[in-house]
Amino acid sequence: MYKNSAKLHKAAKDLIPGGCSTESKKPEALFVSENSPAYYKRAKGAKLYDMDQNEFIDFGMALGACLLGYSHPVIEDAIKREVGNGILTTLPTHLEPQLAKLVIDTVPSIDMVRFMKTGAEAVSSGVRLARAYTGRKFILASGYFGWHDWFSRGEGVPEAIKNLCVLFTFNDTKDFLDKLNTLPEHPAAVVMEPVINEHPKREFLELLRETCDKFGIVLIWDETKTALRMAPGGAQQFYNFTPDLTVMGKALAGGMSLTAIGGKKEFMENWHRVWISSTYACESLSLSAAIAVLNFVRENPVHTHIQKLGTQLLEGAQEISASFPDVLEVYGIPQMVGIRLKGELPDIQEKEASFYRSLLDFGFIIKRKGYNFVCYSHTEEHIDRCLNALEKTLRKNFERSST
Ligand SMILES: Cc1ncc(COP(=O)(O)O)c(C=O)c1O
Repeated sequence: MYKNSAKLHKAAKDLIPGGCSTESKKPEALFVSENSPAYYKRAKGAKLYDMDQNEFIDFGMALGACLLGYSHPVIEDAIKREVGNGILTTLPTHLEPQLAKLVIDTVPSIDMVRFMKTGAEAVSSGVRLARAYTGRKFILASGYFGWHDWFSRGEGVPEAIKNLCVLFTFNDTKDFLDKLNTLPEHPAAVVMEPVINEHPKREFLELLRETCDKFGIVLIWDETKTALRMAPGGAQQFYNFTPDLTVMGKALAGGMSLTAIGGKKEFMENWHRVWISSTYACESLSLSAAIAVLNFVRENPVHTHIQKLGTQLLEGAQEISASFPDVLEVYGIPQMVGIRLKGELPDIQEKEASFYRSLLDFGFIIKRKGYNFVCYSHTEEHIDRCLNALEKTLRKNFERSST
């Protein structure tokens, strides 16, 4: 069933370390087994077609990038309109200030904005700006922020740099204050994701805002996943909260490579003090796509659709997990739904392989780690069928463990 994928993946491993350049898209990461779809040939709406002509309804949605769905006509038309005008030239495109105005009009806390290509790049630029603005070096962080040195814990990063970033637990006010107090001096920035597996508690948000104001710390919200998804103005509009700097990623250009960082003028006007620049930041196809996505999201009921269908998926999966309490864990919010087996690799290797294999055989891609994302092209029927496949898969593989 996945013969062509398996063959291609095996050959690709001699050409590309790991067989693909995005860690979380490797078949081993997605499905535990190499005998699974490894590359796609075509994708449309909520559907994806692999190298063996298999059709899947996808809930990974390009790690959250494709808010409207794959090959959405509004985005494709916006790209096509610019092809032929010069994708990248010596001058920036006139589309850049047009998109900047749209972002500023849409996201409550943003007065000025700069564009970049990846989420990691945008959040790292915020950290550098905060360090320059405050003249301090420590960072308090909660979430995932990509692979750059200021945040990464892996090999290849000097200990001296790792020691400047201290992690705190999301929604835990005591842990935040404890970590703040362990630092030898006030940090330059608090960097956080607005949602990690659950909604932020009001008192947690208020404490962070008050503490940052009191000690002159720059509060950075990394809305790489939540921008446009929770509301046109992102999580800050959804939760009525004002960060100092905001990162927008993923959904911003609907699958094209574009991210943004913006905030109050007081901070953004310091941009000249740092050196942050990229050849590709002004590339026109992504800017055109982002203008189309933002206009679409402002004019169509994207958020009510995602809230409604995301609730259907989250609550349906929670109901099913109640019958398999030792096996299935369901977490998140309607906009970002986590569905995974309990336990850790390698202990549950075989269980996971047969679980994802069965879901694939039913025609569904459910993301193993992190979140599943409902998009504007999913339908109630897709969710119903997915829940049905989830229940059947659990009954087939784990009936004896159920209550
Ligand atoms: C909150 C957050 N910040 C940053 C990143 C890194 O973004 P990118 O992979 O575009 O560099 C991610 C990626 O998932 C993310 O979720």
